Amino acid sequence: MRQSVGKVAVGSRVVIGLLASLAAFAMVAQAAGAKDQPIPRLVRQDGRYALMVDDAPYLVLGAEVNNSSGWPAMLPKVWPAIEYMHANTVEIPVYWEQFEAKKGEYDYSLVDTILSEARAHQLRLILLWFATWKNGNAHYMPEWMKREPDVYTHVIDENGHPVDSPSPFSAASLDADSKAFAALMAHLKTVDPQRTVIMMQVENEPGVYGTQRDYSPAAQKLFSSAVPADVLKAMNVSAAGSPDWKHAFGGEAEVNFHSWAVARYIGQVAAAGKAAYPLPMFSNAALRDPMTPGPAGTYESGGATDNVLSIWKVAAPAIDILGPDDYQTDTAAYVKVLDLYHRDDNPIYLPETGGSPRFLFFALGRGAIGFSPFGIDYTKTLDIPDLARPKDEFLVPWARVGTKEFVAPFVPLYSLLAPMARDVARLNFEGKLQAIAEEPGKVTQVLHFGDWDATVSYGIWARRGRPVGNPQPMGGVLIAKLSDHEFLVAGFYCRVDFKPTAADLHKQFLRVEEGTYQNGVFKFLRLLNGDQNDGGLDFNSVPLVLRVSVGTY
Ligand code: DGJ
Repeated sequence: MRQSVGKVAVGSRVVIGLLASLAAFAMVAQAAGAKDQPIPRLVRQDGRYALMVDDAPYLVLGAEVNNSSGWPAMLPKVWPAIEYMHANTVEIPVYWEQFEAKKGEYDYSLVDTILSEARAHQLRLILLWFATWKNGNAHYMPEWMKREPDVYTHVIDENGHPVDSPSPFSAASLDADSKAFAALMAHLKTVDPQRTVIMMQVENEPGVYGTQRDYSPAAQKLFSSAVPADVLKAMNVSAAGSPDWKHAFGGEAEVNFHSWAVARYIGQVAAAGKAAYPLPMFSNAALRDPMTPGPAGTYESGGATDNVLSIWKVAAPAIDILGPDDYQTDTAAYVKVLDLYHRDDNPIYLPETGGSPRFLFFALGRGAIGFSPFGIDYTKTLDIPDLARPKDEFLVPWARVGTKEFVAPFVPLYSLLAPMARDVARLNFEGKLQAIAEEPGKVTQVLHFGDWDATVSYGIWARRGRPVGNPQPMGGVLIAKLSDHEFLVAGFYCRVDFKPTAADLHKQFLRVEEGTYQNGVFKFLRLLNGDQNDGGLDFNSVPLVLRVSVGTY
């Protein structure tokens, strides 16, 4: 059906409309035959979160396509990359300019194509609603809106000039966005009883660059009024005297105000969508420097940066997750971002990421429900001169996205985790799993599991060798305690050994099973012993999963 629509001659609006209705009819008919699965939801237990999909914890092994790859003509260049990577979930945009090219008329054909092709590839989807905001701009607003800047207004800077960013105070934009998003969600409710779509991203890296806030008359009026009590409380500022924004927040007033305004707007869009169909929803944020944040004005203002998470939580309660787009390549900085967003009121999800694949272990160690590297498809041919190539392990996304070479480093890790993803998500939710990755300058790390400690060492090249670290940090491992004396261990480029915490006891391996996950179930392959684990459990470049029983003497 999609191809038929594409082949219709330009100008045949009636035929296109007819074919689009037939496509929608086919989706609804298909949906009518599909079994209704429970709606995906986030649950919290003992301070940990799970994304429940088909009523069980789900780990998003995600892959985000390039910005312009969500078009039917591009999808043949998407699926092979996803398959090669072993991702289980694709993050793919839905473009407002396509969805509502004519005011008030919604075109579901693109989203229907994405749904049916994802199902054919047995993949789940996270749809990215590129609407009022995309990286601080309004470039995905439909043309009919762009042509009316006086109605769908821009941010006004301190000097009274319009900025290339939408105003969060435009009631007309909010109304149009909310209606369109609600229509999209209502459609998904009808055509997706099998829950191919598991979460929604509302907008993309919202906020503004070049000015800290909107100075339009509507904004000025609110900026000099009392700060809402819930915002003051969330930011631990005394409500005495009902201070206006400047008095309440001083040098942070501008960024706090714009964040509140953007969050309030996006919260309303999300709420309108949830009223139609309550999938979990998140907002992704362009970050401040996590190690040495510069002053307001040096980063995108208005998005869910680490300093305004509490404002976002009160202003946008319909947004379930504030997710950092973590592109830090330095290990300490990457981990710092995770720690800043790892809060009681916020599940850890990385809507976009770059850096080293091993960083996923750090995220799992903080209970992450998922992780999604950006730029995964084959829409680009390699065009980087050799001399410009980075020489270390790190992936520089902007240069290499859209190529097989860019996807390749994720393949071992995703192929290890994909078949066991449900177990990993469940064990993490139950608080039984810990995960860690190699940090520069640290050759061993210790994880504590009650009566047992697990020592993870990097760069041991002999049975009784000493750890010297890998030539560059590349190791990582997850360890889950299955019972008092049983562990599940999976990882790369490290050695793991266990030690009883009681000083007078020594460890012995009772049984070390190498296995493989098939359809989510651990299948025994062989017992490892002798050269294979006399020195400890060795993990290298090949995905390896072990079930280990330990005892004492
Ligand atoms: C972050 C944005 O959220 C993505 O959509 C994309 O623009 C990347 N940056 C860089 O290309």
